[in-house]
Amino acid sequence: MNQEHVEELLRFLRFPSISTDPEHKSDVAACAGWLQQKLTQIGLEAELHPTAGHPIVVARNVHREDRRTVLIYGHYDVQPVDPVALWTTPPFEPRIENGIIYARGSTDNKGQILAHVLGVGETLKEHGDLPVNLIFLIEGEEEVGSKHLEDFLILHRDELKCDVIAVSDTGMVAPGVPTLTYGLRGIAALELKVTGPDTDLHSGIFGGAVANPITILARLIALLHDHEERVAVPGFYDGVIPLEPWERRSWEKLPIGDAEIRQLTGVPALAGELGFSSLERIWARPTAEVNGIGGGFQGEGTKTVIAKEAFAKLTFRLVPGQDPETVMKAVRAYLLAQCPASVHLELKGGHAGEPYHTNPNSADGTAAQRALTQTFGKEVALIREGGSIPIVNTFRRVLEVETLLLGLALPDCRAHAPNENFPLENFFAGIRLNRLLLEELAR
Ligand code: BES
Ligand code: ZN
Repeated sequence: MNQEHVEELLRFLRFPSISTDPEHKSDVAACAGWLQQKLTQIGLEAELHPTAGHPIVVARNVHREDRRTVLIYGHYDVQPVDPVALWTTPPFEPRIENGIIYARGSTDNKGQILAHVLGVGETLKEHGDLPVNLIFLIEGEEEVGSKHLEDFLILHRDELKCDVIAVSDTGMVAPGVPTLTYGLRGIAALELKVTGPDTDLHSGIFGGAVANPITILARLIALLHDHEERVAVPGFYDGVIPLEPWERRSWEKLPIGDAEIRQLTGVPALAGELGFSSLERIWARPTAEVNGIGGGFQGEGTKTVIAKEAFAKLTFRLVPGQDPETVMKAVRAYLLAQCPASVHLELKGGHAGEPYHTNPNSADGTAAQRALTQTFGKEVALIREGGSIPIVNTFRRVLEVETLLLGLALPDCRAHAPNENFPLENFFAGIRLNRLLLEELAR
């Protein structure tokens, strides 16, 4: 174990680079600056590109005509830390316990991207060169929908021209099991606001004669699913590409399934669309989720009030065959049609991203599988994931190149949640993986 590598990770993790919070803008910038310095220190030409949001860090070695170009993408921004009281130790004071590092961003994505950076550093130190032309593209806005990266890609299309992209920002099915992800769900976000009376009302004086916005909102949310846990929006499943028989067969054999998911989540029983296993539901079926809800009195005791408004935040995860815009249109039409005239319903769209699907057995896909097998000494699991990395579709559209997803996150990494963690073992596996991957992709 290289202690200096661990120290570097600890330094990286101490920056509270929360991209969604304006109060942390300077921390995000400082983190980008540190990364640029690190990339320069290992022998790359590194630049910071300011955007209207957070900076984009780009680094490259000396490029030669006679070899392939690999772009490694990652992000240095992190999710907010709320609820902070549920962290065992502060989120930006990384702690190592039993070989596991606890901190916000440890898995998503600082640990994984830094492994690639340090892997390149080791190869450069030993050989003075890499087997490929390399580009690091590390952004600070992934967790807020990569707002400025598409324009950047378009503007720098020529400098970012490459043969393949590698990303470590997904998961492994179990510790030690190398995993190549060939599909990601897309996403579409929608905010609902239900407003009724001009002001909050006494529920005794007016209750019974006016609609309660919270009741209506709850009813609208309940109408999103039918009794078989299918999304009830007409047209929602139109065009959804069914699972391939080989996927169902091979996923059944994975070391993760219903029992593990129940255990990981602590729920009393699993739930979901009838006729599918948990993995199928998460990786290959679309969903409607409520991410937040609010309205009315939240304090101690009772307050007899009819709140003037209520809100909810929804996201829909989409699978191949669905298009975020079409789905959003269907959802809006459905909710507006179901909403009674006794309230107003306001709908506001949020970020959107298409689902992604690529061939895991392409030439570069099999090269990635070889690198993963050599890194972990085991056969590779081929999976899809339920999360979203919308920028990979933009890579395909703008740079016309496919993305390999070689994740190092474990099922219990607690990404986006309190006590996010990353085993040092995976960090060091990532450093080894980088070297093997570049060698394999060079062929
Ligand atoms: N690393 C995740 C994406 C991910 C998570 C992929 C789990 C596969 C499995 C990424 O940082 C992320 O959280 N993405 C967001 C995208 C959103 C903000 C547009 C997501 O999936 O919620
Ligand atoms: Zn994330």
